[in-house]
Amino acid sequence: MTVSVSGQGVESDEAPLLRVLAGERIDPPPVWLMRQAGRYLPEYRALRAKARNFLDFCYTPDMAIEATLQPIRRFGMDAAILFSDILVIADALGAGVSFEEGKGPVLEPVRGIGDLAKLSKSRIAEHCAPVYEAIGSLRSALPDRVALIGFAGGPWTVATYMVEGGSSKDFAQIKRWMWTDPDGFGRLIDLLSEATIEHLIGQVRAGAQCLQLFESWAGVLPEPEFDRWVMVPTRHIVESVRAACPKVPIIGFARAAGAMVDRYAQGTGVRGVGLDAMVPRTQALRLQETVAVQGNLDPVLLLAGGKALTDRARAIVAALADGPHVFNLGHGVLPPTPPEHVEALLAAVRGA
Ligand code: CP3
Repeated sequence: MTVSVSGQGVESDEAPLLRVLAGERIDPPPVWLMRQAGRYLPEYRALRAKARNFLDFCYTPDMAIEATLQPIRRFGMDAAILFSDILVIADALGAGVSFEEGKGPVLEPVRGIGDLAKLSKSRIAEHCAPVYEAIGSLRSALPDRVALIGFAGGPWTVATYMVEGGSSKDFAQIKRWMWTDPDGFGRLIDLLSEATIEHLIGQVRAGAQCLQLFESWAGVLPEPEFDRWVMVPTRHIVESVRAACPKVPIIGFARAAGAMVDRYAQGTGVRGVGLDAMVPRTQALRLQETVAVQGNLDPVLLLAGGKALTDRARAIVAALADGPHVFNLGHGVLPPTPPEHVEALLAAVRGA
């Protein structure tokens, strides 16, 4: 399929998402949604009911493939994101991950250097083999214009789950460790960085064409700690993945990091940045001078639907039309979202 580029009449067979990440403007912008596969879809809930638990689902290639393809079939997004989870890497390291119904992830807490001994990155390739198998089949199943996105959590974000033992409100355990024993805590971040590099390269070798780093809890760190525990590891991950896979663009999503997103975009080597719903237009336009931007629509507005949704979607498209832009949400699709709202959103973005 060919897509014309606004203003220039250039045509290309490359997936629109990849072209935007290379710096092109495309009108209308390519669109995909974080958590586009998931509980808001009845076909996902039916598939999920067949799995013993969530991690089994992630490690069963046929199920992961089907969950990845469900939103593409129903809505025709411009990109497919591998169905998996950022905690798969914590599980591969030996952090004892489980997902409990109605409670979210539960992990065996890692609270000091004594607990690091039980973690090892020697098992990643074997542990993640089903994930890479799913990626290979997905790439063959998808049309060329639909880019396949691989992903991982940022080391800081994955560490929050490992140290807190699950989701957290105040991040008291991880912050205490980070401030009282930065060298020891740094060993956990280093281990996670190396594991993340291996996992991302494994996904590219299997067929992923683009990568996203989810640094979902970047926004809870003051500036000096943001630099040390988000900026430095991200730059190392981006440089290492680029050395092995020079053509594969990385999108970094430092959620809720406010003004620090500018530094993150300039200083890490990412080709695109995710924007949460609170990023103002002036900042988004400034970011577009050096990287592609992706996101910004509040997921609760997608849940609400109606004219407010379609008006705001069109306003975001118009505001960001002069630079590289990938349409997405500011965070993942919420489980109670009616699927018809997603349909209406895509139609609005695509000019219907
Ligand atoms: O469609 C996609 O976006 C691809 C699949 C995907 C999932 N999780 C599936 C999932 C992706 C990219 C993720 C990333 C992820 N996982 C993040 C970063 C993005 C974000 O939301 O900030 C984080 C922090 C996690 C960790 C995680 N996974 C939590 C805290 C939970 C429990 C909360 C919840 O929504 O249930 C999960 C479980 C999870 N991951 C589900 C899905 C579809 C729901 C589990 C189920 O179906 O039973």
